[in-house]
Amino acid sequence: MSGEQASSQYGIETDSMTLQRFVLQEQKFYPEASGELTSLLTSMLVAVKAIASATQKAGLAKLYGIAGQTNVQGEEVKKLDVLSNELMINMLKSSYTTCLLVSEENDELIEVEEKKRGSYIVTFDPLDGSSNIDCLVSIGTIFGIYKKRSEGEPNESDVLRPGKEMVAAGYALYGSATMVVLSTGNGVNGFTLDPSIGEFILTHPNMKCKSKGSIYSLNEGYAKTWSKGITEYIRTRKDPEPGKKSMGQRYVGSMVADVHRTLLNGGIFLYPPTSAAPNGKLRLLYECNPMAFIMEQAGGLATTGTHRILDIQPTSIHQRAPIILGSKEDVDEAVEFIRKYDS
Ligand code: AHM
Ligand code: MG
Repeated sequence: MSGEQASSQYGIETDSMTLQRFVLQEQKFYPEASGELTSLLTSMLVAVKAIASATQKAGLAKLYGIAGQTNVQGEEVKKLDVLSNELMINMLKSSYTTCLLVSEENDELIEVEEKKRGSYIVTFDPLDGSSNIDCLVSIGTIFGIYKKRSEGEPNESDVLRPGKEMVAAGYALYGSATMVVLSTGNGVNGFTLDPSIGEFILTHPNMKCKSKGSIYSLNEGYAKTWSKGITEYIRTRKDPEPGKKSMGQRYVGSMVADVHRTLLNGGIFLYPPTSAAPNGKLRLLYECNPMAFIMEQAGGLATTGTHRILDIQPTSIHQRAPIILGSKEDVDEAVEFIRKYDS
């Protein structure tokens, strides 16, 4: 029996491009690479798979408890975001590849104990889209990876660096399937979890964001508090000049899902300043920067409206930034409205 016949008989691909294999292959372009980044990603993927399993409600009783706050064993129930955070931290620390972590869930920097330290720094939002967790809408994990450059003990200055210094970034999306979208600075690739073998397989090679899309995405509930520039930009998407097509609107309310759709289909995602959140809501280090990195690597743009996201010099680990990202022409147009009306 030929290899091809065997693989079709069992429905199993015998030469799949797994995420790990892909990263190992990319590493060959960098003779100085030690394999540390591959080990980091491999460990982080264990956390991602466990979070994916938890979001699918595997181990239902332990996650929720049949009777409220405690599970059937009477133990206190771990919320999904707390569980995801612990998984990310434990897997990253025990990979021996990281020295410093920043998580949305932890107020302070997380230092890795000396004997387990490696040379990478990871910023992450372990489970983004918290308001969507309980209603079973897609949620995700976002991460950015930096290489430590300073000498001596890892400290805050190692993470307060502009996003353009990241060596890799990406996200996992827990939706109707689980996907990891990753860039190591050489384009963007998407990998889908094949649960039958527990591996992420390259399904979306060399992802590109269209130069123009037909969907805009933001929370219109805050319309009253938008700047004139954003107000006019959105108004003209719905009611364009004669001869131009109006845009459709989609808003999941999970950044990972909204950005993923924008990456696949084109269009624009915005979380602008509002009166309740004058600097926007989304966090620079582990929400805006990784998504901006992915979007730029796919040929799109990401800006605050006035500055490129990846150029911002952070001053604190949990700082927020307004964000507009997506198809190049759509983002350029939005920036034009901001320049015209808000400056
Ligand atoms: P979270 O980190 O508490 O989950 O908040 C981030 C989420 C993003 O996923 C999403 O884009 C945004 O909050 C939605 O906010 P809003 O409900 O204000 O539209
Ligand atoms: Mg978040």
